[in-house]
Amino acid sequence: MHAMLNIAVKAARRAGTVINRATVNLDMIKVSRKQANDFVTEVDRAAEDAIVDTLRTAFPDHGILAEESGQSWKDGKEPEYVWIIDPLDGTTNFIHGFGQYSVSIALRNRGVVTQAVVYDPVRDELFTASKGAGAFLDSKRLRVSKRDRLADALLGTGFAYRDGEGIEAYMKIYEIMTRNSSGLRRPGGAALDLAYVAAGRFDGFFEQSLKPWDIAAGSLLITEAGGLVGNYRGDKGDDTGLLDGGEILAGNPKLFAQMVRLLAPHSQF
Ligand code: IPD
Ligand code: CA
Ligand code: CA
Repeated sequence: MHAMLNIAVKAARRAGTVINRATVNLDMIKVSRKQANDFVTEVDRAAEDAIVDTLRTAFPDHGILAEESGQSWKDGKEPEYVWIIDPLDGTTNFIHGFGQYSVSIALRNRGVVTQAVVYDPVRDELFTASKGAGAFLDSKRLRVSKRDRLADALLGTGFAYRDGEGIEAYMKIYEIMTRNSSGLRRPGGAALDLAYVAAGRFDGFFEQSLKPWDIAAGSLLITEAGGLVGNYRGDKGDDTGLLDGGEILAGNPKLFAQMVRLLAPHSQF
């Protein structure tokens, strides 16, 4: 395993321990609201501290872009290496004891995502990828699914629920994708959803209004597993553009084009 990825795995497992310890006493966790339907807990912060501490000790010169603590460098030139971190993706699920959430850590090197970890502390499943070296679930090599008819596909999705904004537009998309696939699931943790596409558990995934830390690791997992990622128009552009755009469509190469056909009219771009 790549040396930098190895440290990221250590950081993700430490965060997973923090998260798992907290699930023993979910009632005791202090929850605060960042905005409507957008929650953060002390566990998100403690998990992020564990990750940042591990990465900083190993790589004092690297930049950090983390959900709870923000960007470590002043605006202007991005450091050569930047760690993009979501310490707990799926916080609402976590608060409710609904076991679908993960730790997501990616490394961006001069604008290109090169290392990825998505760790599911509930099932102890570790998804990793290094650019050019494949994607893995624990030690097993991952490939996206081979299903080639959208009508047979199981798709994942999510939508911005924060203030109900865009819900009508989303309902149209929901209808179209439901009619054209064998099923739509909305698990509530985008990073793990993307890892499931890499693992072939989902044939495809789509969501808008995401943040770079929701997408960074998952998108590398998918491309390294032989899948495609882009926005709803199918455009990938560079990694930074994809992450900042926050609109993601992912799938195996056969289904990707079929999904683009349905979703392109709904793109924000
Ligand atoms: C959320 C999850 C969810 C997605 C939201 C994200 P958080 O992340 O990824 O699936 O629909 O847009 O904000 O807040 O739990 O880290
Ligand atoms: Ca997130
Ligand atoms: Ca989060």
